[in-house]
Amino acid sequence: MDIMKKIAVLTSGGDAPGMNSAIRAVVYSAYQFGIEVVGILRGYEGLIDWETKPLGLDEVRNINNQGGTILYTSRSDRFLQPEYRKQAADNLKKNEIDAVIAIGGDGTLRGAIEFQKEEINIVCIPGTIDRDVACTEYTLGFDTAANTATDAIDKIRDSSVSHGRCSVVEVMGRKRGYIALWAGMATAADAIILPEKWEGDYDSVTEAIKKRHADGRDSYLVVVAEGVTDAPELADRIRERTGIESRVSVLGYIQRGGSPSAKDRMYGSLMGAYAVEILNNGKQNRIVAIKNDILIDYDIAKAPEIKNNQLDSFQYELSLKLSD
Ligand code: F6P
Repeated sequence: MDIMKKIAVLTSGGDAPGMNSAIRAVVYSAYQFGIEVVGILRGYEGLIDWETKPLGLDEVRNINNQGGTILYTSRSDRFLQPEYRKQAADNLKKNEIDAVIAIGGDGTLRGAIEFQKEEINIVCIPGTIDRDVACTEYTLGFDTAANTATDAIDKIRDSSVSHGRCSVVEVMGRKRGYIALWAGMATAADAIILPEKWEGDYDSVTEAIKKRHADGRDSYLVVVAEGVTDAPELADRIRERTGIESRVSVLGYIQRGGSPSAKDRMYGSLMGAYAVEILNNGKQNRIVAIKNDILIDYDIAKAPEIKNNQLDSFQYELSLKLSD
């Protein structure tokens, strides 16, 4: 087994609260094993251009509470091309880096699966607010994003109640409905529209609102995951079919920012330390994951087929029963 002497760490894809805790834990854990850490800037782009900074304990002190990522991030189109992956691999070999820890979502994992073919040892840590990495129950940033969305929707509801309106709130999540489900259930929305459940049945939404109107309610809340249906069009349909004034709020990037929740700091720390430990134990090309709330790791090439992340239908059914 080769002894780890120097590793690199990077963050890639959409930034997510908790990434900084993971970076910090990587540096602290590596220090305890006598491993040097190099920070790669701007994700896979920094690997290609060799944009780096040394990461010692001083560089990562007091960052658990910071949103974003101190290493910056990108969505690298160049890394999709073999010649740039080769350039990145050459940079790592030239600089005697024994392994890379890549913190990011689904795109980062797909990049890592291709990159290992360049005889690079790469370990992934799932970090994305979307919670859309198939092999893990949890991804860093989701908890903070769901709380931010909940807080924002609470505020929108205050205005909606004051004016007697319907608010349609669009939240992020790419192709998954976790933020919508959690923030929608937490705010007792009248309708929650998720990619996993939506069959284009606008009538069920407008009927639910009409029924509540008939019961004497005069403000309504619809939470919709991005990409499922056009939020302004949905608001128009509600207005046309119910006569109730409807407004759209798209929450956008506030969901990615802000100081991480305790859960994201904790899981970031656990995953960062775990990644270094498995590398130090000689493992190669793994992804850190959570299953049954316990840390585990999988072969990155097999990870996309492992389904530990199915949306809980019971939670969805319950959200319908418990809406205000
Ligand atoms: O993956 C995180 C995420 O915020 C998604 O929820 C959203 O669809 C996407 O990133 C937005 O990406 P970009 O930052 O490239 O606009």
